[in-house]
Amino acid sequence: MTRTNPRDAPAAHPAAAHPAATYPAATYPAAADEDALKELIAGELGAVRDRSFGLTTDVLDEAGLTSQVSPLMSPLVWDLAHVGNYEELWLLRAAAGADAMRPEIDGLYDAFEHPRAERPSLPLLPPDEARSYIGTVRAKVLDSLPSVRFDTADPLTSGGFVYGMVVQHEHMHDETMLATHQLREGAPALLDPVAEPPRMPPSAGSGIGEVLIEAGPFRMGTSDDPWAYDNERPAHVVDLPAYYIDVEPVANAAYISFMEAGGYDDPRWWDAAGWEWRNAGGKRAPAFWHREGGRWLRRRFGRTEPVPPDEPVQHVSWYEADAYARWAGKRLPTEAEWEKAARWDPAAGRSRRFPWGDAYEEGRANLGQRALRPSETGAYASGASAYGVRRLIGDVWEWTSSDFGGYPGFRSFPYKEYSEVFFGPEYKVLRGGSWATHPLAVRGSFRNWDYPVRRQIFSGFRCARSVDGEGR
Ligand code: AVJ
Ligand code: FE
Repeated sequence: MTRTNPRDAPAAHPAAAHPAATYPAATYPAAADEDALKELIAGELGAVRDRSFGLTTDVLDEAGLTSQVSPLMSPLVWDLAHVGNYEELWLLRAAAGADAMRPEIDGLYDAFEHPRAERPSLPLLPPDEARSYIGTVRAKVLDSLPSVRFDTADPLTSGGFVYGMVVQHEHMHDETMLATHQLREGAPALLDPVAEPPRMPPSAGSGIGEVLIEAGPFRMGTSDDPWAYDNERPAHVVDLPAYYIDVEPVANAAYISFMEAGGYDDPRWWDAAGWEWRNAGGKRAPAFWHREGGRWLRRRFGRTEPVPPDEPVQHVSWYEADAYARWAGKRLPTEAEWEKAARWDPAAGRSRRFPWGDAYEEGRANLGQRALRPSETGAYASGASAYGVRRLIGDVWEWTSSDFGGYPGFRSFPYKEYSEVFFGPEYKVLRGGSWATHPLAVRGSFRNWDYPVRRQIFSGFRCARSVDGEGR
């Protein structure tokens, strides 16, 4: 793990100093036998809980945990109890056949019963009770784990699926909690784990623009990844015309060029709804940016700093990404284009799990909160895809032009509220994960989604263009 800042040596802030994930790359997640898989699961459950505490009780007081920093986000104490309640639901009641521990609180932590804006007014468990509740759930989960059979005929437990679902769910909420931290005003709560982004000598060919992806079919999605979500399934063949895709995500310097060229003031570049959004909200720059003394500064986890030119632009809405792309004479990639560039190995005629191969490997992507920021253009060249496209996984979530929907043959599993209820044109798909995403909670087939106006998430983009026809 990259540790260049002596300030991160003490373990006082486990969130910031979240240890690098070390998976048995050859076996994960299909460990050779059930016992080995259960051992891996128990370890990951422990690791994600350390991460959750490192973002909550270890760094904020009671008021910091129970207050709401934005109507877009839950009070952190809600996320904390919610992950435990979800774990109780799936690992104790569904997998182990247990009765509800505290049926009276289930409603409070049901994301569909109470929208985020409403959550601070609910009679939520106070922080100490939330901690004790989720700790009890966890103790029971670890007690029951040896006796739960991973039955290949039962899709819920086969390959440890439901345990993987719960581990990924908590990591997703940890990323959401990081977005809450980013929105918080006032003194920084999180320690920067490294003073600098993980800089690597830009290798030959970095920042070279775009690569051509030849026309032809590729295999999209997955049917055999044991911990994949329903919306990544099933694998299916998609035939695409040739296109160009950017080698790197769009950097701040390029985005500033768009701003300085009057990009925010020219309706030609904007989707009609995006133009309305720009007008109504007075949007003229990415979230958390402001101009001072003739340069752009940003607020990042309570600290103000100059916008680094070579980092991917972050905290942009789909509308901003779409406008930039049109200004640049390009367009956003469809999610199929993104995935082909990320996963397809034309020589082998198969799709990889990650751009570089099937196994997660340290050092090939900026994931897992090891820095509280994206890396710079030229970094992680060893994480390039078969086509030489870089930093597809990690750094920033990448907006695509696609609406969120089910693949041909989609079947909701194990519950409709994970993805199916969100299918439709109001959500846009994001791909690839961010620096805040844990390696277990992303892969080349993973699909995230959000409203096109959202930018509190760690969102950026890259551009594409068609070979036939003009740009778009
Ligand atoms: C997949 C990130 C869109 O946060 O709404 C958390 C993940 N689902 N709890 C979300 C999720 C249930 C979901 N995203
Ligand atoms: Fe959730």
